[in-house]
Amino acid sequence: MSDFIVLKNQIKNFNKKIEISGDKSISIRWVLLSSIAEGVSSAKNLLMSEDVMAAINAIKKLGIKVKIKNNLCKIYGRGINGYKYKKNLILDAQNSGTFGRIILGLLINTPYPIKLIGDKSLSKRDFKRVTDPLSRFGAKFFLKKNKFLPLTIFGSQNLKPIHYIENRGSAQCKSSVIFAGMRTNGETKIKAKKSRNHTELLSKYLKLPINIKLNKNYDLIKINKVQKINKIDYKIPSDISSCAFFIVLTTLATKSKLTIKNINVNSSRIGVITILKKMGANIKFKNCKNYKGEKIADMIVKSPKKLISINCPAKLNSAAIDEFLIIFLVAAKAKGISYFKNLNELNQKESPRLKWGEKILKMMGVKTIITNDTIKIYGNPNLKINKKIIVKKYLKDHRVFMTSVIAALSFGGNWKIHDKSSIKTSFPNFMKIINKFNRNV
Ligand code: S3P
Repeated sequence: MSDFIVLKNQIKNFNKKIEISGDKSISIRWVLLSSIAEGVSSAKNLLMSEDVMAAINAIKKLGIKVKIKNNLCKIYGRGINGYKYKKNLILDAQNSGTFGRIILGLLINTPYPIKLIGDKSLSKRDFKRVTDPLSRFGAKFFLKKNKFLPLTIFGSQNLKPIHYIENRGSAQCKSSVIFAGMRTNGETKIKAKKSRNHTELLSKYLKLPINIKLNKNYDLIKINKVQKINKIDYKIPSDISSCAFFIVLTTLATKSKLTIKNINVNSSRIGVITILKKMGANIKFKNCKNYKGEKIADMIVKSPKKLISINCPAKLNSAAIDEFLIIFLVAAKAKGISYFKNLNELNQKESPRLKWGEKILKMMGVKTIITNDTIKIYGNPNLKINKKIIVKKYLKDHRVFMTSVIAALSFGGNWKIHDKSSIKTSFPNFMKIINKFNRNV
């Protein structure tokens, strides 16, 4: 079957209500924590994507029973020390940096070596950033070229707590160390630059021995050995990172309206909303509520009258890190020159996304100036594309695919976008929802 799509038509005005699948970060954390909880945990609206399935397949290999039926996932946890470790175990993280990195914290006391592998994209990403702090607990690691997958973890039965400074703003690194701290006698202390805090919120909700002190630019987290986790029943809210594609579609359209319900709007995740609002977007939250420590809301987006450029404050980077590609499309239409800085982490994702952002904009005829970690985008409120654009060989990065689709529907042109199957990693329903907007696809 062909794995590309062709798009030739700009989208017409719309007024739509859509449903977006479950949050990926929360789904993966729920799977991992439920796997070491006691009893049967169940989740509704768990994201059924390849990244989450990689986590489910791994815990199954560790002896944990999982049942999935319709929209319900049940995990039969066997307690904090319930993993059945075997010799020659190989776990496959596939495309998932989040799962691949944070599971290592839970494997820190494995009695047998475990090999972790991943796909082509994941095998190009830095794993030393998690194995360095985890080694300090007492585990040992062998990595390809000292940095990459495949890696092998040699656990330790004599773990020592660590003091760790996380200064990238990486929730994956922070969460991996929190998980290792849960397995370690004594107090693990983390000073972490702000990043998404789902691990902390879920741990607090579960009344685990975690203490969090919030400061302006960083958080201080203390975690002690966990004796028991109760089963976790959870209704996973919609993923703001997936919503972002449709929020931008509406923001770039004229006279259109979009309603999405029950979205996770945790403040560590809504950088995209703050940035788009500064650029003139019309986005409103309704029915805000607290769900097990997470903030949830409905969202109404309307096409704005005009969009203006932004000098984007770097302090918003971590809370918008997965949305920059789609934000760049708004900058392409905004009046003036937009500037985004300190974005070196963006080139560490499923593909080098700062580079890919620039490539797509260039193909669209938008002027850009790029360095290692900054980009200037020269916006054009009348941008309209009349040429053929081919998007391929981008390491099957799901967000490159979906951003290209939104660009094609928003600005026109004749697009051929390869590797449609990439959406399976984070947002398998993406094309189904697009089809509701654009019957011609
Ligand atoms: C994630 C953290 C972010 C993000 C990723 C999901 C998480 O990565 O890009 O998509 O769930 O912890 P980093 O922590 O590496 O910045």
